[in-house]
Amino acid sequence: MKTNSQGSRTFSASLDIDSRLWEHDLKASIAHARMLGRQKIIDTAQAETIIAGLLQIGEELALEMSKGVIKFNPEAEDLHSEIETRLFQKIGVAARMLHTARSRNDQVATDTRLYLLDEVHLLCDNLLDLKKELFQQAQLHLETILPGMTHLQHGQPVSLSHHLLAYFWMLDRDQQRLNDSIKRISSLPLGSAALAGTGFPIDRIQVQRELGFLKVSENSLDAVSDRDFVIEFLSHGSLIMTHLSRLAEELILWSTPEFGFVELGDEVTTGSSIMPQKKNPDVAELIRGRVGRVHGALMGSLTMMKGLPLSYNRDLQEDKVHLFAGLDTVGPCLRLMILMLQKCQWKPHRMRESLRKDFSNATDLADDLVEKGLSFREAHEVVGRLVQTCLSAGKGLEDLTLAELKATHILFNETTLAKIPHLQVMKARSSQGGTSPEAVRAQLQLAEMTLTL
Ligand code: ARG
Repeated sequence: MKTNSQGSRTFSASLDIDSRLWEHDLKASIAHARMLGRQKIIDTAQAETIIAGLLQIGEELALEMSKGVIKFNPEAEDLHSEIETRLFQKIGVAARMLHTARSRNDQVATDTRLYLLDEVHLLCDNLLDLKKELFQQAQLHLETILPGMTHLQHGQPVSLSHHLLAYFWMLDRDQQRLNDSIKRISSLPLGSAALAGTGFPIDRIQVQRELGFLKVSENSLDAVSDRDFVIEFLSHGSLIMTHLSRLAEELILWSTPEFGFVELGDEVTTGSSIMPQKKNPDVAELIRGRVGRVHGALMGSLTMMKGLPLSYNRDLQEDKVHLFAGLDTVGPCLRLMILMLQKCQWKPHRMRESLRKDFSNATDLADDLVEKGLSFREAHEVVGRLVQTCLSAGKGLEDLTLAELKATHILFNETTLAKIPHLQVMKARSSQGGTSPEAVRAQLQLAEMTLTL
């Protein structure tokens, strides 16, 4: 049986979580050591020995990494102590000088911010790629019509371009939010030491510049205990996942035989082990399902922070569990969504077919009467009755002859007839931001501007 002390050591250890910060930890330590040397806080030769040792550790870890996984000492409490031990083994007592004017509290906050900055840049690239994919497909389908829905009921026909661009704008906002968060992540905590700053004549600006941070933190208590940047990322990540999940849901629905609007690629579907006819949309379902991980991480990190007194508390070590759960989900889901869209085969014919006799052209008949002077209430009633008649005759509005129309209302005429086809209905919605090809072309121009910025 394990003793209590072993139990609590294992309980407190974080190496299995924070080991992935090694590159960023080394980078921050090198900048810190260089600053200590330049400021004559430690001997310049010592600083150089430390830097050389850290660089060597970096090379060794990179080599181990290329061969598979890095084997860290399982006894180490966290990554920071593990690297310090390795440094001691390599350069001896000089290693003991590195932690001058520093604490693991400002160190871990620095590492985490550095790591997140890299990841956020990658995610912005992923978002851009996904937007490009949606944009390219939207360029091809200005006249591909399908039922636009409210309440999952046919409302009015829209173009596939317009539908795809709706997701484009969601992701554009996500990209803007992530981009904007960079300026808040990029604030350097190092130099705050344990909580109150340090009496050593450090130069924080030097470290900031070397590490590429936009600024140094203003308050040491805040700097070591702030995890807003984790919560903010998880909040933006949650919204990205919500958007991906909505798109995934539509692809799942549209790939059913009932809809048949799309065929998903073999790369993102699986067969059933028992039903030979099946093509299951597993990847789309998993994207939808994994939303829970990110929303859960957001809740977890908000709850972790609530009620924490200043400044550092060990609770904060949990931040990385949540942050990495978010990062490990959002990136792969974005990349798989791109693949899924690339492999989609749209079925314009099925889309058009589903509009047959669906009465999604009814509004335009009412509008026609209104244009000719009738009140909208009256027009609504006339067309409502006409829909009923068509329903009992098993017809769609598009099946009506001119004579039948004229018999329904004296204001109906040839111009009415021209307005009934679904394609015409879609083309008529030319208001700014509407679904007509002309309006969508303008939308595509706006979209393109966000791709080249
Ligand atoms: N592993 C710790 C964390 O992730 C590092 C900081 C430890 N600081 C301390 N005072 N125990 O937060």
